[in-house]
Amino acid sequence: MKLMIDDARIEKIKEIWEIYPVEGVTTNPTILAKSGRNPYEVLKEIRAFIGKETPLMAQAVSREAEGMAEEGRRMVKELGENTYVKIPAIPEGFRAMKLLAGEGIPFTATAIYTPMQAFLAGQCGASYAAPYLNRIDNMGYNGVQAAKDIHDIFRNNGMKTEVLVASFKNSHQLLEMCKYGVGAATVAPEVIEGLVKNQTILSAVDVFVQDFEGLAGTGRTMNDC
Ligand code: E4P
Repeated sequence: MKLMIDDARIEKIKEIWEIYPVEGVTTNPTILAKSGRNPYEVLKEIRAFIGKETPLMAQAVSREAEGMAEEGRRMVKELGENTYVKIPAIPEGFRAMKLLAGEGIPFTATAIYTPMQAFLAGQCGASYAAPYLNRIDNMGYNGVQAAKDIHDIFRNNGMKTEVLVASFKNSHQLLEMCKYGVGAATVAPEVIEGLVKNQTILSAVDVFVQDFEGLAGTGRTMNDC
């Protein structure tokens, strides 16, 4: 399962990138709006940092298919290869997906709340389909199960589309996706940091350091012995 960062704050992206094994950056209009800046300015900054080989995703916001497709063409022109245009899995979105597929522009189907949306997006040629796990949970359904079902639908129908699970709010949701081996998960920096933010883990490491310093002297490490 590939881990991607769901954020557009360049400093936060850099921080996470340096520490964790992440392989892509995704954004959505809400995330970009928080920057208060021109979206292309922000996305180009991210692209420059992550390099041209790494997946970068941004969403089209037009209401009609032609507009969505046009936004997609512009994104790829401005942000280069390995830019995935996020297209909502709604009727006009499916029409846009078919246009983009015909032009070889990669896209991610987004705003997925039901497995059938994902199936249709897969049939349209989506590279990824993004179910919103936590939002599905909030509707009273089972987001983890929906993501698993979508993964199975793709495999059982011989589709190349990968699941890109989105909208995580806790470590357990992500653990369930790791165990199932979905294609990818896009996760907010705060949730990524929370994966290992645990006093028990930190205390265990503190005890090792203290014990070693008792042996070799304060501040000394294996390098000093
Ligand atoms: C990603 O594609 C989604 O836009 C995002 O993960 C939604 O997350 P949220 O439910 O936290 O807004």
